[in-house]
Amino acid sequence: MTERASEPQNLSFTDLHPSMGDSRTEILAGLSAENKTVNPKWFYDERGSELFDAITRLPEYYPTRTEKQILSDNATAIGQRCTEDCILLEPGSGSSEKVRLLLEAVKPAAYVPLDISADFLRSAATELATEYPWLSIDAICADFSNDWSFAEKLPAGKRIVFYPGSTIGNLEPDAASAFLSQLREVVGDGGGAIIGVDLHKSTDVLNAAYNDSAGVTAAFNLNLLHRLNTIMDAAFDPSQFRHEAFYNEQARRVEMHLVSTVKQSVRVNGTHVDFEQGETLHTENSYKYTIDDFADLAAGAGLMPEQTWTDEDQLFSVHYLATT
Ligand code: TRP
Repeated sequence: MTERASEPQNLSFTDLHPSMGDSRTEILAGLSAENKTVNPKWFYDERGSELFDAITRLPEYYPTRTEKQILSDNATAIGQRCTEDCILLEPGSGSSEKVRLLLEAVKPAAYVPLDISADFLRSAATELATEYPWLSIDAICADFSNDWSFAEKLPAGKRIVFYPGSTIGNLEPDAASAFLSQLREVVGDGGGAIIGVDLHKSTDVLNAAYNDSAGVTAAFNLNLLHRLNTIMDAAFDPSQFRHEAFYNEQARRVEMHLVSTVKQSVRVNGTHVDFEQGETLHTENSYKYTIDDFADLAAGAGLMPEQTWTDEDQLFSVHYLATT
């Protein structure tokens, strides 16, 4: 682990320099497919992260505040599951906001925030280290979606993965299952996982959560086009697209799309991508689970459900899963 003099004593920072892969080829393939798609990871440039932050504070967007309430109401019980001296890992830790609700109760021997954005991770981890001088933090800049080799170098101890925000719901069920199996591998025997999962519920509540009246969600979705313009040297005009999000009850997922409001041909990376009027660019899915369905998915991946916490309206769930 490399340390810098300016860093707090209780923080180490390792940069594995995750490559963004062949982004242009990947994006162009998605835009050229029969049903156009783009990887939702491109939402999160600086503006995108700010807009998402604003989404989490919208009255209609219940998941963030509900999950935080569940975590703080049950921190003691969650802490009892973890036992002292565990190594708490958080893939995609971002600002490490939610873990603060658990730290005092869990008292981990080390906290390992993992994020793909080095600068953001460094500043978030530095702030956390200053705020929690007793906490040992090993921050790792890595792309956990395809490289877990850093796990070999983690401090010894019972490993617990913290994966809040129903981020698992943004994966297709098959990929979610594969990801949970990967977590199970990393955790090894005698460890656990704390996973936040948004619940299947009335279509009206879900549609409102992804179509706020202030239009922040629409701005967030449309911001992706600005990002594509930069990465792909493209000429998307956001005023020629509109945000669309709806709960697909059959598939149990909220689908996010950008709908072309006109027939158009958009310059992208030296070529053109054609849109019919009404044709959509599918930007993200957000799968919703029942408690039992998620428990089955996790168990199938070797993460055994031990306890689930929810709010009184059964909007959101937090699961403690154990490996044996
Ligand atoms: N991961 C978030 C979710 O599934 C992302 C999200 C919230 C989102 N609102 C959105 C993505 C609107 C696209 C458009 O809840």
